[in-house]
Amino acid sequence: MAFSQSFLDELIARNDITDVVSGYVNLTKKGGNFFGLCPFHNEKTGSFSVSPDKQIYHCFGCKKGGGVINFVMEMENFSFPEAVEFLAKRVNLPLPEQGKGSDDSLRRRILALNRDAARFFYETLQTPEGAAVEKYLETRKISLKTAVNFGLGAAQDKWDALLQAMTRKGYAKSELLSAGLVVQGKNGNLYDKFRNRLIFPVIDNRGDVVAFGGRIISKDDPGAKYMNSPETVVYSKRRVLYGLNLAKKSKRGNIILCEGNIDVVMLHQAGFDNAVASMGTALTQEQTRLLSRCTKELILCYDNDDAGKIATQKALAILQDSEFNVKVLQLPKRFVDGEYVKQDADDFIKYQGREAFERLLSGSADGMDFRMEQVAARFDLSDDKQKVEYAAAVSELIATLSNAVEREVYTARAAALCSVTPQALALDVQRARKRLFTKADRMQRRADLNPIAQVQPKLRTVRYDNVRSAMAEEGVIRLLTLDESLFGEVETLSSSEFSCQLLGRVFDALLSQKNDGHISVPLLARELSGEEMSHVSQLLQKPESAANAHRALRDYITLIKEEAQKRSGAGYDPLAAAVEKYKSKKGHGGK
Ligand code: UTP
Ligand code: MN
Repeated sequence: MAFSQSFLDELIARNDITDVVSGYVNLTKKGGNFFGLCPFHNEKTGSFSVSPDKQIYHCFGCKKGGGVINFVMEMENFSFPEAVEFLAKRVNLPLPEQGKGSDDSLRRRILALNRDAARFFYETLQTPEGAAVEKYLETRKISLKTAVNFGLGAAQDKWDALLQAMTRKGYAKSELLSAGLVVQGKNGNLYDKFRNRLIFPVIDNRGDVVAFGGRIISKDDPGAKYMNSPETVVYSKRRVLYGLNLAKKSKRGNIILCEGNIDVVMLHQAGFDNAVASMGTALTQEQTRLLSRCTKELILCYDNDDAGKIATQKALAILQDSEFNVKVLQLPKRFVDGEYVKQDADDFIKYQGREAFERLLSGSADGMDFRMEQVAARFDLSDDKQKVEYAAAVSELIATLSNAVEREVYTARAAALCSVTPQALALDVQRARKRLFTKADRMQRRADLNPIAQVQPKLRTVRYDNVRSAMAEEGVIRLLTLDESLFGEVETLSSSEFSCQLLGRVFDALLSQKNDGHISVPLLARELSGEEMSHVSQLLQKPESAANAHRALRDYITLIKEEAQKRSGAGYDPLAAAVEKYKSKKGHGGK
């Protein structure tokens, strides 16, 4: 399904990058460019720029960049053809006829299969085969309405119920395997992955069923409590949050993040339709990006046990310096038979009720309170020596706050705890803060002093083996995108003379674009990966003057040829070159 260059040209021309990006990011004009808060990483000051001239975006913080197609690929988690389709729809541009058999058609098949499988599980729940699961829902106090809302289903207590049903619908065994819905046994036989379980379809932001979770319905079941779909062409667990498809429509101004599927289901049932779960894994950067599209306030509501506290701390670390306002809701333990037991959101709603949860919610402390308590819990504050240790530890924590008023408030609070004066503790905080800065400075200075490290691409997949030549290669690419009349000058240059393979490929792609008409940086998305595209956008940000372009280009070409000669020519010693390469790798983080 290769799209023609003329079609893509039209698509890119009609989808102005500034328009498209403005749909997601608040942009303000500064000079010829637009700036805003980067949608791909958490930040408080804008380092995300859009160049209407070049029709590319680039973030100086996270180094992501590319054209309009890359932008929607990254933003919406689309494949290249999906992004093209999305942009075509946006401007009512008819799509050219497409052949089948690409990777994309497999994606489509799996999504269709998942949808049919979800429907099959769901329908099973209403039949006698689903009676056991139905009963389980009753014991968990999950209503029929809630089950419908989440599309919950039943996997039968059989080896091949789904396999048979989906095969009848025309799905191939290979497709069932790719979707992770069936498993191949040692003898080669296929059988259903999910058997005798309550099924939770996992639905992504676009409303596609991308995966399934299945819970055992009997304590006697020896299998794992939950079983989830493996990673597939349509499912990456880092990029999905259970329940977000519903929660993103909630009128509540924030999102509650909890641990389990049942917590989400129960919270929604109790009216907290803003609950989502990361399905038993730590919160990821990709997930925070999804969340940032629907809210500015997150409430962490993990289980009140060690695992939950660790998960809370990990999430807080990821959310540090983000633009989210983060609160931590601490579920109290429940006193049963003379001891305290942990409860999750589901338990809390069941035993304490929805009003109590609403009260917890409105009183939930922000992340700093939680961390302050965590630090205090490590020390016995009735012991003088430990009080001193606490003062040191807590000042380290307070020192990380960038807001001076916040530092003062928490300093006063901590000072009271260890019975010292706020002034004394404030001095500690000040000292800790200084240390923090000098450490950051030292690291920055070291980086600044290392010129090779500075010019090395920030991406792991691209490395410059010959920095001198690579700088000239970058220059050639910059100039060609600046002024098309320069193409006449590069006839003698060949990509095989480039020291950096990626830059050579970009050079070739530009030549072929020029042959077919005119050049377009956003169109490079066809040949390059997202990372590679980011690298190209970054090198295009560096200054290059068009004034002496012809002269500069000739100098670059001479230099590239010189270096190429050294590599292949008479004086070239492969052993010495290998040693050089080894040394330079060793010096810069390689193994
Ligand atoms: P929990 O063990 O806290 O389960 O796991 P839960 O959601 O409270 O479920 P109930 O109330 O016991 O029925 C939290 C989440 O971790 C994932 C699931 O997504 C679960 O909802 N998990 C848990 C697994 O993926 N595998 C497991 O074996 C257990
Ligand atoms: Mn639970």
